[in-house]
Amino acid sequence: MCGIVGVLGTHEVAPILVESLRRLEYRGYDSAGIATVNEGRLDRRRAVGKLVNLSDLLVHEPLAGKSGIGHTRWATHGAPSEVNAHPHKAGPVAVVHNGIIENYKALRDELRAMGAAFETETDTETVALLTQYYIAEGLNRVEAAEKTLSRLEGAFALVFLFDGEDDLLIAARKGSPLAIGHGDGEVYVGSDAIALAPLTDKITYLEEGDRAILTRGSVDIRDAEGRRANRPAKTVSIDAARVDKSGYKHFMAKEIWEQPTVLANALDAYLDGDRIDLPEGLDFAQSERLTLVACGTAYFACLTAKYWFETLAGLPVETDIASEFRYREPPIPAATTALFVSQSGETADTLAALRYCRDKADRILSVVNVAESSIARESDLALPIHAGVEIGVASTKAFTCQLNVLYLLALKAAVDRGRMSPDALAAALAELRGLPGLFNAALDRDPTIAEAARAVAETRDVLFLGRGLMYPLAHEGALKLKEISYIHAEAYASGELKHGPIALIDKSVPVVVMAPKDALFDKTVSNMQEVMARGGQVLLITDAAGAEAAGGDVWKTVILPEAAPQLTPLLYALPAQLLAYHAAVAKGTDVDQPRNLAKSVTVE
Ligand code: G6P
Repeated sequence: MCGIVGVLGTHEVAPILVESLRRLEYRGYDSAGIATVNEGRLDRRRAVGKLVNLSDLLVHEPLAGKSGIGHTRWATHGAPSEVNAHPHKAGPVAVVHNGIIENYKALRDELRAMGAAFETETDTETVALLTQYYIAEGLNRVEAAEKTLSRLEGAFALVFLFDGEDDLLIAARKGSPLAIGHGDGEVYVGSDAIALAPLTDKITYLEEGDRAILTRGSVDIRDAEGRRANRPAKTVSIDAARVDKSGYKHFMAKEIWEQPTVLANALDAYLDGDRIDLPEGLDFAQSERLTLVACGTAYFACLTAKYWFETLAGLPVETDIASEFRYREPPIPAATTALFVSQSGETADTLAALRYCRDKADRILSVVNVAESSIARESDLALPIHAGVEIGVASTKAFTCQLNVLYLLALKAAVDRGRMSPDALAAALAELRGLPGLFNAALDRDPTIAEAARAVAETRDVLFLGRGLMYPLAHEGALKLKEISYIHAEAYASGELKHGPIALIDKSVPVVVMAPKDALFDKTVSNMQEVMARGGQVLLITDAAGAEAAGGDVWKTVILPEAAPQLTPLLYALPAQLLAYHAAVAKGTDVDQPRNLAKSVTVE
């Protein structure tokens, strides 16, 4: 999604803005731009495509000035083009925007009636034009921005910069996050703390409805009612150095390969001997129902957790995609725990689903990677996944870390509900502690997976099959592959094969079967035979016992170490990620920023 930065600095600001935008690249974007005020004069540069195009433009057409704003755009209204790229400018005003102005059509009509001319197809341009109009009517810059903000409906983060004012930025947050950074005689604003990491670690997060009037010497924050608001500055721990590729070709590769260490750290944060160290008061004994809601990869983590909570803790679970959940007005019986899973903690649909449950559910839990995010802050209890900053748009380590926390919660629920003895818990935790080592062993299978991926890269369609805990993972494997390699991939429960997808099988469609040698293995082998009998090429991901039992007709086999049955979703996620990664590399796609996708989806 769109990324925003703003700087009131003491040095030339254009390179600082571009560097900050580079740190927001992970969010996904299709064009970029900056505006500065130099000797009172507002000017801007914009370019379609990657940031390098903007940097090249700035070499030929530099922008001087020590104050400015910048933006990476993920198109919603109007195609990616220079004209539609931000900052949008109208007379003395430039704005950058993340989100959607839902009433922009009505505002456009109103502005058109007043004689305004439109240059772009964007919703954002109405914000610049409206502010220009109010300034022309005689309001000062701050009043004009305030009045404009009061007219806007929808979700947005906005930053305004003005001609003639090189010591003024106005920032506003409604729905989309914004962070203010405090420097030495400088002040910054950004979509998140990552953007500002090399500049400062002192951050103030704006709350819903806040607006901030920034100068180099003052940060004046007002709440939605216009009252002065005292928002604390925090020292955040995102150090600049961690947001690099550490020698890997892509962030995604780094994030896949660091999973053994990341999981070990996450376990350290949650395990205390034979105990799961969760906040006091978190008890599932009286829960009658659990509702799990998320989007994308986080949703497949929820789908996996459903199996755990139901089988281990006997707790009925409903799972749903946030964009469906929020609008179908689901009844939420009392004694329901509602749990929201989100890497970013900012996904608009997940946040809206949380708000829907606010006064209905018994309590609101969230599992997030960003502790300061909106979803974390609006939950009764937010459990961090401790994955560290994830930059690759396709989620990898966040997925396994989400699964880890969800599994720990399921174990806790099993104990609380009298379905698991202390000894059984100790045994389960010992298995979990062994998982980082198994992750390493799984990553050792990389050459076999890479070889299979190069063949998969030649195909147009791929099917993923799994049963039980492997069924949600089949979905995650298919999602990963399509996200970054653009190969069409679909997942089915193995038992569903005969109910339709078998019609797709021929020798050009690889079928990835994820099947450890568990209680359901023989049934999956039968489904595999049905595929192979029709010329289908099976890539079997299994363990040594599974490989032996499957026989020799499969196209390729990836043999993983044996793991406790409940832990297989975490372990089998790694080959699924590697398969997608290598297929994308073979196809030469943009692995870390796949086309059309965004890391943090802050619009519906
Ligand atoms: C986007 C990302 C996915 C992610 C999903 C949900 O689609 O590309 O990787 O799973 O949003 O994001 P969240 O931050 O809520 O986990």
